[in-house]
Amino acid sequence: MSLSQPRKLIDSFGRVHNSLRISVTDRCNIRCFYCMPAGDVEFLPKEHLLTFEEIERLVRIGVTLGIDRVRLTGGEPLVRRDLSVLVQKLSAIEGIRDIGLTTNGVLLADQAQDLWDAGLRRLNVSLDALDPEVFRKVTRRDGYEKVLEGIEEARRVGFSPIKLNAVSVRGLTEDQIVPFGQLARDTDTVIRFIEFMPLDADSQWQRDKVLFAHEIIDRLTAAFGSLVPVDQVDQEASPSDDVPSSKQPALLPQHSHSPSQDFVFADGRGRIGFIASVSRPFCQSCNRFRVTAEGKLRNCLFSLEETDVKSLLRTGADDESIAQAMLECVAAKKEGHEINTARFLQPARPMYSIGG
Ligand code: 5AD
Ligand code: SF4
Repeated sequence: MSLSQPRKLIDSFGRVHNSLRISVTDRCNIRCFYCMPAGDVEFLPKEHLLTFEEIERLVRIGVTLGIDRVRLTGGEPLVRRDLSVLVQKLSAIEGIRDIGLTTNGVLLADQAQDLWDAGLRRLNVSLDALDPEVFRKVTRRDGYEKVLEGIEEARRVGFSPIKLNAVSVRGLTEDQIVPFGQLARDTDTVIRFIEFMPLDADSQWQRDKVLFAHEIIDRLTAAFGSLVPVDQVDQEASPSDDVPSSKQPALLPQHSHSPSQDFVFADGRGRIGFIASVSRPFCQSCNRFRVTAEGKLRNCLFSLEETDVKSLLRTGADDESIAQAMLECVAAKKEGHEINTARFLQPARPMYSIGG
């Protein structure tokens, strides 16, 4: 490669990485069973977390390698004090085109305005059930009302469309599918169903607990009629008359790197996405890598290896050494996650300590 050509985060399968997911804490105020252990959790001591300045530096270096979008995750990112200050720092970085946040919504009502003012525009709220009892079973905590308040406040502040992430688990969330479909049809909320992945702390995952995307599609179409892939929908088609146009989610074209396959009901009402990580892995088009709250780079959710970038940041390493660490981490990425093979090994870190 000539020296004048910008360097890219590219792996040995030719996948170019432009998206960095940043976990800002491993702490969380609820205890979703597919992510956290039931018993006591030992969280990282505060001094082990990357500081906002360290995260900002990492992102600035990433931008020189082609990073142009970031997403803040956790644990629960809103338990990190003054998160909007980080959003502000990241929004100010030239070259960052897009900042997103994935939250459980419990603290959102208090922070939505500050986050908006800091420049955040893309918000995913994790909500697996519209029934408070099912919510409690999944999260092992109260908080349902607060999440709904958070979503309402976020909408009032201007976030649109709001995406809800609903992890689908056999024997637990089947009854939530149609109510979620109804919500998508009645409001500008996009519902994204996520197949349960083997990233839980108590090794409860089993293949037969995965409620597959095709099963969810069957239930939704039985209730509301057929679903059409968003990229086949005439973008000019006028939305249904029954729903005010301000309530219709914008029919944004499907992003080619999005893990979500997006659909809209044939009558134009209600956008639904499927993140079918188990039944339809999307590793081939993956463009993202991660940094954990304690500064470990991971080239995949399911990586068994990590690159310690915090020690570089804290021992006076120059930008070039940090850039090299990122390039090498991405270069070493495996082809895919292998969940569907006998070779699969669950990573030692559960979801809360990786960052979703
Ligand atoms: N399987 C599927 N999705 C998960 N998430 C957390 N753990 C799992 C899992 N084991 C989801 C959360 C959140 C996103 C960051 O990842 O619900 O929406
Ligand atoms: Fe918390 Fe998210 Fe894990 Fe649920 S999935 S326990 S909200 S970090």
